[in-house]
Amino acid sequence: MTVHFIGAGPGAADLLTLRGRDLIAACPVCLYAGSLIPEAVLAHCPPGARVVNTAPMDLDAIIAEIAAAHAAGQDVARLHSGDLSVWSAMGEQLRRLRDLGIPYTVTPGVPSFAAAAAALGAELTLPGVAQSVVLTRTGGRASPMPEGERLAAFAATGATLAIHLSIHRLDAVAAELAGHYGADCPVAVVWRASWPDQRIVRGTLATIAAEVGETMERTALILVGPALAQEGFDESRLYAPDYDRRFRAGRADAVKE
Ligand SMILES: C[S@@+](CC[C@H](N)C(=O)[O-])C[C@H]1O[C@@H](n2cnc3c(N)ncnc32)[C@H](O)[C@@H]1O
Repeated sequence: MTVHFIGAGPGAADLLTLRGRDLIAACPVCLYAGSLIPEAVLAHCPPGARVVNTAPMDLDAIIAEIAAAHAAGQDVARLHSGDLSVWSAMGEQLRRLRDLGIPYTVTPGVPSFAAAAAALGAELTLPGVAQSVVLTRTGGRASPMPEGERLAAFAATGATLAIHLSIHRLDAVAAELAGHYGADCPVAVVWRASWPDQRIVRGTLATIAAEVGETMERTALILVGPALAQEGFDESRLYAPDYDRRFRAGRADAVKE
């Protein structure tokens, strides 16, 4: 018996990996993390599967479900939205499973920041503009930010920020970041990226809060940084004619890096 942790992707049912789909189809038990898992992903469960929404359950109850499946020798598909490496609460579940000696696997999913960038048609790392993306959030009731992981500290680097779990604080986030990136720095807010009702609002740090207003709750990402302008950047050296690549020899006078 194995518990398969599966990243279910950002929303669109076809942004699930083939491995994830096949594992879901092979497991007689499926535990899924609430409304961010689309119905069409749950439809891959085999007929007669026990399908449980864990949103209202606490950790003990979730582990009890897994332990019962373990006792019955039944594999479990454990679904979380996006990818499992960020804000999935997978870490605490894996620790319990290790203590109980229950085997598990982890299958990655498409994270919401990638789905949001795709919706924008944006590359978040542009040559000469930004070469780093910071996946972060503001502190919440359940999760205070560790000292040192302040927005201002990340902003000081000039990197592109992908700010999760913070749309309800857009006003304060924009005001704080304007002091670092400048009020005219581009911002995009993507709500429910890849879902049929996806919405995008673009603006600057000065305008974005007013443009979004009260219209977007919860499932939205705030992307901030000069790379969002998609202008004023260099072409990458990778495809330059004089760049001598291993499998595409350049001219005789090519520059080697
Ligand atoms: C608990 S975290 C889950 C993150 C997820 N594990 C991932 O890989 O993106 C939930 C936050 O992720 C962001 N999010 C998740 N799905 C999203 C989507 N489809 N569109 C925009 N933001 C999304 C929102 O900021 C939301 O508040």
